[in-house]
Amino acid sequence: MSQSITFDDYYQNRVTLSFEDHPFSSEPKHVWVICKFHTQWLLTQHPRRGLEFPGGKVEDGETPEMAAIREVDEETGAKVSDIHYIGQYKVEGKNGTIVKNVYYATISDIRLKMDYLETEGPYFIQNIPQHIKKLNHYSFMMRDDVLTYCLKRIKKLYLSS
Ligand code: GTP
Repeated sequence: MSQSITFDDYYQNRVTLSFEDHPFSSEPKHVWVICKFHTQWLLTQHPRRGLEFPGGKVEDGETPEMAAIREVDEETGAKVSDIHYIGQYKVEGKNGTIVKNVYYATISDIRLKMDYLETEGPYFIQNIPQHIKKLNHYSFMMRDDVLTYCLKRIKKLYLSS
């Protein structure tokens, strides 16, 4: 596999990240969406895991991109105006391997909802903290190298001016 990056996550699971086109699975079951709303990053507050970018599982009959757009809406009320595939990673855990697509989405509009299903709704931050790995109010998903590498790529491809 060319150009993949391997490291251990917060739970000591082995993670392999790649920016190739679907290198580990053409039908990943999980998605994660790095969201930007104007100058801010849009996260969601998960009741147990803490602050994280929205995401979740791909449902039957959905493409991963459809799942990404739906999860952002369900967890934050945000409407995606533009979405880009960034990469894919696999996590080899004690109970099996999961494969997740990472997207970068820009948000056009946010609507207040009565219910955000599994989360407590939208949460905005101006900057991603530099020492996020040490901040336990952030979800474990935000505290490994997937975020670091994906942000670097997003900045290079979409945010450099
Ligand atoms: P539910 O089925 O929603 O209750 O979640 P689950 O935790 O049982 O299962 P899921 O299939 O979502 O994830 C299985 C395991 O994979 C988790 O316990 C994590 O250890 C790991 N995992 C899931 N998503 C990520 C991720 O984005 N990053 C990392 N490093 N690990 C992840």
